[in-house]
Amino acid sequence: MPSPGHRPEPLILALPGNEAFARNLANAGAWELGTVETRNFPDGESYVRIPSDVAERSVALVCTLARPDEGFLRLVYAADAARALGASDITLIAPYLAYMRQDRRFLAGEAVTSRSFARLISSTFDRLITVDPHLHRYASLSALYTIPTNTLHAAPLLADWIAVEVSRPLVIGPDAESEQWVSAIAARIGAPYAVLSKIRHGDRDVEVALPDLSAWSGLQPVLVDDIASSGHTLIEAARQLPQQGFAPPDVAVVHGIFAGDSFERLKPLCRMIVSSDAVSHASNVIALAPLIAPSLAATAESVSDLIRHRRPPEPLDDVERAGIDSFPASDPPSWTGGRE
Ligand code: R5P
Repeated sequence: MPSPGHRPEPLILALPGNEAFARNLANAGAWELGTVETRNFPDGESYVRIPSDVAERSVALVCTLARPDEGFLRLVYAADAARALGASDITLIAPYLAYMRQDRRFLAGEAVTSRSFARLISSTFDRLITVDPHLHRYASLSALYTIPTNTLHAAPLLADWIAVEVSRPLVIGPDAESEQWVSAIAARIGAPYAVLSKIRHGDRDVEVALPDLSAWSGLQPVLVDDIASSGHTLIEAARQLPQQGFAPPDVAVVHGIFAGDSFERLKPLCRMIVSSDAVSHASNVIALAPLIAPSLAATAESVSDLIRHRRPPEPLDDVERAGIDSFPASDPPSWTGGRE
Protein backbone atom coordinates (compact mmCIF):
# COMPACT_ATOMS: atom_id res chain seq x y z
CA MET A 1 0.00 0.00 0.00
CA PRO A 2 1.56 3.37 -0.95
CA SER A 3 2.18 5.69 1.97
CA PRO A 4 -0.17 8.68 2.37
CA GLY A 5 1.01 11.70 0.38
CA HIS A 6 2.89 9.55 -2.09
CA ARG A 7 1.44 8.47 -5.38
CA PRO A 8 3.11 5.58 -7.18
CA GLU A 9 4.95 6.29 -10.43
CA PRO A 10 2.51 6.31 -13.33
CA LEU A 11 2.02 3.22 -15.45
CA ILE A 12 1.57 4.28 -19.09
CA LEU A 13 -0.98 2.37 -21.14
CA ALA A 14 -1.70 2.97 -24.84
CA LEU A 15 -4.99 2.49 -26.62
CA PRO A 16 -4.61 1.24 -30.22
CA GLY A 17 -2.91 3.76 -32.50
CA ASN A 18 -1.22 5.52 -29.59
CA GLU A 19 1.62 3.07 -29.00
CA ALA A 20 4.42 5.28 -30.35
CA PHE A 21 3.22 8.32 -28.42
CA ALA A 22 2.89 6.28 -25.22
CA ARG A 23 6.40 4.86 -25.68
CA ASN A 24 7.83 8.37 -26.14
CA LEU A 25 5.98 9.55 -23.06
CA ALA A 26 7.18 6.61 -20.98
CA ASN A 27 10.74 7.26 -22.15
CA ALA A 28 10.46 10.99 -21.42
CA GLY A 29 9.45 10.31 -17.82
CA ALA A 30 11.37 7.06 -17.36
CA TRP A 31 8.03 5.41 -16.55
CA GLU A 32 6.89 1.86 -17.06
CA LEU A 33 4.95 1.10 -20.22
CA GLY A 34 2.22 -1.49 -19.72
CA THR A 35 -0.05 -3.20 -22.21
CA VAL A 36 -3.71 -3.13 -23.15
CA GLU A 37 -5.12 -5.81 -25.43
CA THR A 38 -8.10 -4.96 -27.57
CA ARG A 39 -9.93 -6.68 -30.37
CA ASN A 40 -13.40 -6.80 -31.80
CA PHE A 41 -15.77 -9.69 -31.36
CA PRO A 42 -17.35 -11.01 -34.57
CA ASP A 43 -20.41 -8.86 -33.90
CA GLY A 44 -18.24 -5.73 -33.71
CA GLU A 45 -18.35 -5.30 -29.93
CA SER A 46 -15.07 -4.40 -28.23
CA TYR A 47 -12.95 -6.74 -26.13
CA VAL A 48 -10.48 -5.11 -23.71
CA ARG A 49 -7.96 -6.73 -21.38
CA ILE A 50 -5.21 -5.17 -19.27
CA PRO A 51 -2.55 -7.85 -18.72
CA SER A 52 -0.34 -5.41 -16.76
CA ASP A 53 -0.73 -5.27 -13.00
CA VAL A 54 -2.46 -1.95 -12.29
CA ALA A 55 -3.37 -2.58 -8.65
CA GLU A 56 -2.46 0.46 -6.54
CA ARG A 57 -0.83 2.05 -9.58
CA SER A 58 -1.45 5.50 -10.95
CA VAL A 59 -2.52 4.74 -14.51
CA ALA A 60 -2.13 7.09 -17.47
CA LEU A 61 -4.19 5.99 -20.47
CA VAL A 62 -2.87 7.50 -23.69
CA CYS A 63 -5.54 8.00 -26.33
CA THR A 64 -5.66 10.90 -28.70
CA LEU A 65 -9.26 11.62 -29.57
CA ALA A 66 -9.21 12.36 -33.28
CA ARG A 67 -12.02 10.31 -34.86
CA PRO A 68 -13.37 9.55 -31.38
CA ASP A 69 -16.46 7.69 -32.47
CA GLU A 70 -14.27 4.79 -33.65
CA GLY A 71 -12.58 4.02 -30.34
CA PHE A 72 -14.32 5.80 -27.50
CA LEU A 73 -16.12 2.79 -26.02
CA ARG A 74 -12.97 0.73 -25.69
CA LEU A 75 -11.27 3.70 -23.99
CA VAL A 76 -14.08 3.78 -21.43
CA TYR A 77 -13.86 0.01 -21.01
CA ALA A 78 -10.10 0.22 -20.45
CA ALA A 79 -10.55 2.94 -17.81
CA ASP A 80 -13.31 0.99 -16.06
CA ALA A 81 -11.21 -2.18 -16.16
CA ALA A 82 -8.19 -0.39 -14.68
CA ARG A 83 -10.41 0.98 -11.93
CA ALA A 84 -11.99 -2.39 -11.19
CA LEU A 85 -8.52 -3.95 -11.09
CA GLY A 86 -7.45 -1.54 -8.37
CA ALA A 87 -5.72 1.40 -10.09
CA SER A 88 -5.33 4.20 -7.57
CA ASP A 89 -6.26 6.88 -10.12
CA ILE A 90 -6.65 7.16 -13.86
CA THR A 91 -5.43 10.06 -15.98
CA LEU A 92 -6.47 10.44 -19.60
CA ILE A 93 -3.65 11.76 -21.79
CA ALA A 94 -5.49 12.98 -24.87
CA PRO A 95 -3.08 15.09 -26.94
CA TYR A 96 -6.05 16.00 -29.16
CA LEU A 97 -9.37 16.58 -27.43
CA ALA A 98 -12.42 15.92 -29.57
CA TYR A 99 -15.83 17.54 -29.74
CA MET A 100 -14.62 20.98 -28.75
CA ARG A 101 -15.89 22.73 -31.86
CA GLN A 102 -19.62 22.06 -31.39
CA ASP A 103 -19.59 24.46 -28.48
CA ARG A 104 -23.00 26.01 -29.03
CA ARG A 105 -26.28 25.38 -30.79
CA PHE A 106 -25.58 26.92 -34.19
CA LEU A 107 -28.96 25.72 -35.51
CA ALA A 108 -32.12 25.05 -33.52
CA GLY A 109 -32.24 21.49 -32.24
CA GLU A 110 -28.53 20.71 -32.46
CA ALA A 111 -26.80 18.68 -29.77
CA VAL A 112 -24.07 20.66 -28.00
CA THR A 113 -21.70 17.72 -28.11
CA SER A 114 -18.79 19.48 -26.40
CA ARG A 115 -20.84 19.34 -23.19
CA SER A 116 -22.00 15.75 -23.61
CA PHE A 117 -18.48 14.57 -24.40
CA ALA A 118 -17.06 16.43 -21.39
CA ARG A 119 -19.63 14.75 -19.15
CA LEU A 120 -18.66 11.31 -20.45
CA ILE A 121 -14.93 11.92 -19.95
CA SER A 122 -15.48 13.49 -16.53
CA SER A 123 -17.44 10.49 -15.32
CA THR A 124 -14.77 8.04 -16.47
CA PHE A 125 -11.41 9.60 -15.59
CA ASP A 126 -9.87 11.35 -12.60
CA ARG A 127 -7.85 13.85 -14.58
CA LEU A 128 -7.33 15.01 -18.17
CA ILE A 129 -4.13 16.28 -19.76
CA THR A 130 -4.49 17.70 -23.26
CA VAL A 131 -2.82 20.08 -25.70
CA ASP A 132 -4.39 23.16 -27.26
CA PRO A 133 -8.05 22.20 -27.00
CA HIS A 134 -10.26 24.31 -29.25
CA LEU A 135 -11.24 26.87 -26.62
CA HIS A 136 -12.96 29.50 -28.66
CA ARG A 137 -16.20 30.10 -26.83
CA TYR A 138 -15.30 28.47 -23.51
CA ALA A 139 -12.69 30.33 -21.47
CA SER A 140 -11.19 27.12 -20.13
CA LEU A 141 -11.87 23.41 -19.91
CA SER A 142 -13.19 23.87 -16.39
CA ALA A 143 -16.28 25.44 -17.98
CA LEU A 144 -17.05 21.99 -19.32
CA TYR A 145 -15.09 19.36 -17.43
CA THR A 146 -15.74 18.50 -13.79
CA ILE A 147 -12.39 16.75 -13.29
CA PRO A 148 -9.01 18.50 -12.95
CA THR A 149 -7.60 19.34 -16.37
CA ASN A 150 -4.15 20.40 -17.53
CA THR A 151 -4.21 22.41 -20.75
CA LEU A 152 -0.82 22.52 -22.41
CA HIS A 153 0.27 24.68 -25.32
CA ALA A 154 2.35 23.64 -28.31
CA ALA A 155 2.87 27.16 -29.67
CA PRO A 156 6.43 27.46 -28.26
CA LEU A 157 7.35 24.16 -29.95
CA LEU A 158 5.90 25.35 -33.26
CA ALA A 159 7.78 28.64 -32.84
CA ASP A 160 11.05 26.83 -32.21
CA TRP A 161 10.52 24.66 -35.28
CA ILE A 162 9.93 27.77 -37.43
CA ALA A 163 13.00 29.47 -35.99
CA VAL A 164 15.20 26.54 -36.98
CA GLU A 165 13.66 25.58 -40.33
CA VAL A 166 12.42 28.79 -41.95
CA SER A 167 14.54 31.78 -42.78
CA ARG A 168 12.85 35.20 -42.83
CA PRO A 169 9.39 33.89 -41.83
CA LEU A 170 6.11 35.79 -41.90
CA VAL A 171 3.82 34.01 -39.42
CA ILE A 172 0.22 33.97 -40.62
CA GLY A 173 -2.93 33.01 -38.72
CA PRO A 174 -5.97 32.11 -40.79
CA ASP A 175 -8.60 33.85 -38.68
CA ALA A 176 -9.08 36.49 -35.99
CA GLU A 177 -9.25 33.86 -33.24
CA SER A 178 -5.70 32.74 -34.01
CA GLU A 179 -4.19 36.15 -33.35
CA GLN A 180 -3.44 35.52 -29.67
CA TRP A 181 -1.10 32.64 -30.28
CA VAL A 182 0.18 33.62 -33.74
CA SER A 183 1.35 36.85 -32.14
CA ALA A 184 2.99 34.87 -29.32
CA ILE A 185 4.82 32.65 -31.82
CA ALA A 186 5.99 35.67 -33.80
CA ALA A 187 7.20 37.41 -30.62
CA ARG A 188 9.13 34.33 -29.50
CA ILE A 189 11.10 34.16 -32.75
CA GLY A 190 11.24 37.88 -33.53
CA ALA A 191 9.22 37.62 -36.74
CA PRO A 192 6.33 39.70 -38.09
CA TYR A 193 2.84 38.24 -38.21
CA ALA A 194 -0.43 38.79 -40.04
CA VAL A 195 -3.94 37.53 -39.51
CA LEU A 196 -6.39 36.68 -42.30
CA SER A 197 -10.14 36.83 -42.07
CA LYS A 198 -12.28 33.78 -42.48
CA ILE A 199 -15.98 33.17 -42.99
CA ARG A 200 -17.14 29.58 -42.66
CA HIS A 201 -20.26 28.80 -44.68
CA GLY A 202 -20.22 25.04 -44.02
CA ASP A 203 -18.04 22.07 -43.02
CA ARG A 204 -16.12 22.24 -46.29
CA ASP A 205 -17.02 25.72 -47.46
CA VAL A 206 -14.63 28.33 -46.13
CA GLU A 207 -13.90 31.81 -47.43
CA VAL A 208 -10.55 33.35 -46.52
CA ALA A 209 -9.66 36.97 -47.25
CA LEU A 210 -6.09 38.29 -47.20
CA PRO A 211 -5.26 41.82 -46.10
CA ASP A 212 -2.65 43.70 -48.12
CA LEU A 213 0.58 41.87 -47.18
CA SER A 214 2.84 43.76 -49.58
CA ALA A 215 4.83 45.26 -46.70
CA TRP A 216 6.28 41.78 -46.12
CA SER A 217 6.94 40.72 -49.71
CA GLY A 218 10.01 38.54 -49.94
CA LEU A 219 9.38 36.85 -46.58
CA GLN A 220 8.50 33.17 -46.38
CA PRO A 221 4.85 32.77 -45.30
CA VAL A 222 4.20 30.22 -42.56
CA LEU A 223 0.55 29.40 -41.98
CA VAL A 224 -0.04 28.37 -38.38
CA ASP A 225 -3.28 26.85 -37.11
CA ASP A 226 -4.44 24.78 -34.18
CA ILE A 227 -6.38 22.24 -36.24
CA ALA A 228 -6.34 21.09 -39.84
CA SER A 229 -9.63 19.20 -39.94
CA SER A 230 -11.30 19.34 -43.35
CA GLY A 231 -8.16 21.27 -44.37
CA HIS A 232 -10.22 23.86 -46.21
CA THR A 233 -9.05 26.80 -44.10
CA LEU A 234 -5.42 26.09 -44.95
CA ILE A 235 -6.15 25.17 -48.58
CA GLU A 236 -7.94 28.48 -49.14
CA ALA A 237 -5.20 30.49 -47.44
CA ALA A 238 -2.41 28.66 -49.27
CA ARG A 239 -4.18 29.17 -52.59
CA GLN A 240 -4.35 32.92 -52.15
CA LEU A 241 -0.87 33.78 -50.89
CA PRO A 242 0.84 33.41 -54.30
CA GLN A 243 -1.71 35.88 -55.69
CA GLN A 244 0.11 38.53 -53.63
CA GLY A 245 3.47 37.40 -54.98
CA PHE A 246 4.48 35.12 -52.08
CA ALA A 247 6.26 31.80 -52.41
CA PRO A 248 4.23 28.67 -51.56
CA PRO A 249 3.74 28.79 -47.78
CA ASP A 250 4.97 26.47 -45.09
CA VAL A 251 2.27 25.12 -42.79
CA ALA A 252 2.62 24.24 -39.11
CA VAL A 253 -0.37 22.87 -37.21
CA VAL A 254 -0.80 21.39 -33.77
CA HIS A 255 -3.51 18.87 -34.66
CA GLY A 256 -3.11 17.45 -38.16
CA ILE A 257 -6.35 15.56 -38.61
CA PHE A 258 -6.41 16.11 -42.39
CA ALA A 259 -9.72 14.43 -43.12
CA GLY A 260 -10.30 12.73 -46.47
CA ASP A 261 -7.89 13.79 -49.20
CA SER A 262 -7.23 17.23 -47.71
CA PHE A 263 -3.52 16.59 -47.16
CA GLU A 264 -3.06 15.53 -50.79
CA ARG A 265 -4.90 18.68 -51.89
CA LEU A 266 -2.91 20.97 -49.61
CA LYS A 267 0.50 19.50 -50.37
CA PRO A 268 1.00 20.89 -53.90
CA LEU A 269 0.13 24.36 -52.63
CA CYS A 270 2.85 24.37 -49.97
CA ARG A 271 6.60 24.08 -49.50
CA MET A 272 6.53 22.11 -46.20
CA ILE A 273 3.66 20.91 -44.02
CA VAL A 274 4.41 19.88 -40.44
CA SER A 275 2.33 18.94 -37.44
CA SER A 276 2.80 17.83 -33.88
CA ASP A 277 2.29 14.16 -33.08
CA ALA A 278 -0.96 14.91 -31.21
CA VAL A 279 -2.63 13.09 -34.09
CA SER A 280 -0.59 10.44 -35.86
CA HIS A 281 0.05 11.62 -39.44
CA ALA A 282 2.78 11.56 -42.09
CA SER A 283 3.39 15.27 -41.40
CA ASN A 284 4.34 14.75 -37.72
CA VAL A 285 7.69 16.32 -36.83
CA ILE A 286 7.03 18.03 -33.48
CA ALA A 287 7.03 15.61 -30.55
CA LEU A 288 4.71 16.44 -27.66
CA ALA A 289 5.92 13.87 -25.12
CA PRO A 290 8.51 16.33 -23.70
CA LEU A 291 5.67 18.83 -23.16
CA ILE A 292 3.32 16.35 -21.50
CA ALA A 293 5.79 14.42 -19.33
CA PRO A 294 6.42 17.26 -16.81
CA SER A 295 2.67 17.78 -16.45
CA LEU A 296 2.13 14.09 -15.71
CA ALA A 297 5.10 14.10 -13.33
CA ALA A 298 3.59 17.08 -11.50
CA THR A 299 0.31 15.25 -11.00
CA ALA A 300 2.28 12.33 -9.57
CA GLU A 301 3.66 14.65 -6.90
CA SER A 302 0.31 15.92 -5.63
CA VAL A 303 -2.28 13.61 -4.20
CA SER A 304 -4.46 16.22 -2.57
CA ASP A 305 -6.45 16.83 -5.74
CA LEU A 306 -7.48 13.22 -6.01
CA ILE A 307 -11.12 13.27 -5.24
CA ARG A 308 -12.69 10.03 -6.35
CA HIS A 309 -11.25 7.37 -4.14
CA ARG A 310 -11.21 3.97 -5.64
CA ARG A 311 -12.87 0.90 -4.37
CA PRO A 312 -10.44 -1.96 -3.56
CA PRO A 313 -9.37 -4.26 -6.38
CA GLU A 314 -12.01 -6.72 -7.37
CA PRO A 315 -11.01 -10.29 -6.44
CA LEU A 316 -10.38 -12.20 -9.63
CA ASP A 317 -12.32 -15.30 -8.61
CA ASP A 318 -15.40 -13.13 -7.96
CA VAL A 319 -15.11 -11.78 -11.46
CA GLU A 320 -14.86 -15.24 -12.90
CA ARG A 321 -17.78 -16.49 -10.83
CA ALA A 322 -20.07 -13.59 -11.44
CA GLY A 323 -19.02 -12.86 -15.00
CA ILE A 324 -19.01 -9.44 -16.58
CA ASP A 325 -21.99 -8.21 -14.54
CA SER A 326 -19.68 -7.90 -11.56
CA PHE A 327 -17.74 -5.02 -13.11
CA PRO A 328 -18.76 -1.79 -11.39
CA ALA A 329 -19.79 1.25 -13.32
CA SER A 330 -17.75 4.44 -12.97
CA ASP A 331 -18.36 6.48 -9.87
CA PRO A 332 -20.36 9.64 -10.42
CA PRO A 333 -18.19 12.77 -10.26
CA SER A 334 -18.05 14.16 -6.75
CA TRP A 335 -15.97 17.25 -7.46
CA THR A 336 -17.26 20.14 -9.49
CA GLY A 337 -14.70 22.89 -9.18
CA GLY A 338 -12.60 22.38 -12.31
CA ARG A 339 -8.97 23.42 -12.22
CA GLU A 340 -6.56 24.69 -14.82
C1 R5P B 1 -10.95 27.52 -36.37
O1 R5P B 1 -11.30 28.35 -35.57
C2 R5P B 1 -9.71 26.72 -36.23
O2 R5P B 1 -8.68 27.47 -35.70
C3 R5P B 1 -9.28 26.08 -37.54
O3 R5P B 1 -8.96 27.09 -38.44
C4 R5P B 1 -10.36 25.22 -38.11
O4 R5P B 1 -10.91 24.42 -37.13
C5 R5P B 1 -9.85 24.40 -39.26
O5 R5P B 1 -10.88 23.65 -39.77
P1 R5P B 1 -10.85 23.11 -41.27
O6 R5P B 1 -9.56 22.40 -41.48
O7 R5P B 1 -12.04 22.18 -41.33
O8 R5P B 1 -11.04 24.27 -42.18
